[in-house]
Amino acid sequence: MKITEVIKSRRNIKKFKTNMVNLDDIYSWLETAAMAPNHRMTEPWEVYFIGQETRAKLNHKTNFGKAPVIIAVLSKHGVTSVETEENAMATACFIQNFNLAAWDNGVGTFWSSIGITGKNRQLLGVPDNYDLIGVLGVGYPEEIPAPKPRTPIINKIKNLP
Ligand SMILES: Cc1cc2nc3c(=O)[nH]c(=O)nc-3n(C[C@H](O)[C@H](O)[C@H](O)COP(=O)(O)O)c2cc1C
Repeated sequence: MKITEVIKSRRNIKKFKTNMVNLDDIYSWLETAAMAPNHRMTEPWEVYFIGQETRAKLNHKTNFGKAPVIIAVLSKHGVTSVETEENAMATACFIQNFNLAAWDNGVGTFWSSIGITGKNRQLLGVPDNYDLIGVLGVGYPEEIPAPKPRTPIINKIKNLP
């Protein structure tokens, strides 16, 4: 697919088929994701593959749409608060790169912010000097939701003198 088509057709997937996604493919999309822009080459992202035992403890309301794989994506704090914020932005770019690389290969993702509460951070063993940017379900879509319309971008543009 052309990149514009990948970006426009990607959806946040809430129901997955249970068949497994090849782990080597997931690693290769993570390698692609790591080409994300990141200030001062901090490469702040880290990825935890969440096993069944931990997943059960997270007790997610839809069990991540039955996704066969779930991963947590963490962002390391920087040496200043500005760097910490920039690192989180870079990690969000990393996640979106991953989402698009997977989508280009027929695999969907569900971005959940379940991990940001203290209890879930603890369950996932997130160190104090990391932000948890997202927990992602990864799998073949059972259903692809209709696109949610966006506000015309012209309404978001301001021309400064
Ligand atoms: C930082 C972030 C956190 C999100 N957390 C959740 C979440 O907890 N639950 C959820 O259903 N979707 C979550 N989403 C996905 C959005 O709901 C979804 O992207 C939005 O509804 C637009 O749908 P689309 O991605 O299919 O275009 C999150 C997205 C982002 C960027």
